[in-house]
Amino acid sequence: MHRILIVFSIFLISNVVLGHGDEDHRDPRASQQVKLDDDGFEIISSGPSKEVLAQINQIYKKEVKGIFSNKCLTCHGVNNSMPWYYSIPGAKHLMDKDMREAKEHMDMSNDFPFGGHGSPIDDLDALKKTVDKGNMPPFQYKIIHWKSGLSDKEKKIIKKWIQGSKDLIGSK
Ligand code: HEC
Repeated sequence: MHRILIVFSIFLISNVVLGHGDEDHRDPRASQQVKLDDDGFEIISSGPSKEVLAQINQIYKKEVKGIFSNKCLTCHGVNNSMPWYYSIPGAKHLMDKDMREAKEHMDMSNDFPFGGHGSPIDDLDALKKTVDKGNMPPFQYKIIHWKSGLSDKEKKIIKKWIQGSKDLIGSK
């Protein structure tokens, strides 16, 4: 009897100590109603509507794109004018790598929503983070292009657009 009690207490203690507590591990989608698209396929996450994305893009093009084309699109978008040092073989190699990686993360070539691996909300959150931290453009780039950092005024405009977009999407 004692043995059983001891084993049982160990089981209880280990569950309390090592267990996950009250976290909910269920798939949050499971509780939502299943929605089907026109072809009868289940829509896993419908995300923001096309209209909302178009509205966000309209403000992006008006307020933010000008800033980004100067300071971000060399790597994150279509770039017509490469910096002079691009013709130096070693530099070209580094730049190509940067531009490839930058676009894999966030491709701004076709305006908003951006390409890359993030959803529109992920991209807005990632942008907000980099603007707050001031870590884009990357440090090595800023050394050479010492005016390429975002000014306080530009940061304000970008953050206002991010918050406005999140409000439109209905995300906190
Ligand atoms: C010299 C090239 C270069 C420039 C210019 C540049 N970036 Fe980047 N960016 C990168 C690279 C490379 C990555 C991916 C690696 C990393 O996160 O450092 C990246 C990643 C990011 C990410 C993270 C995306 C994610 O998936 O989380 C954001 C956001 C971002 N950049 C925003 C900007 C903004 C805004 C500007 C302009 C103010 C800018 N970048 C300018 C090269 C650049």
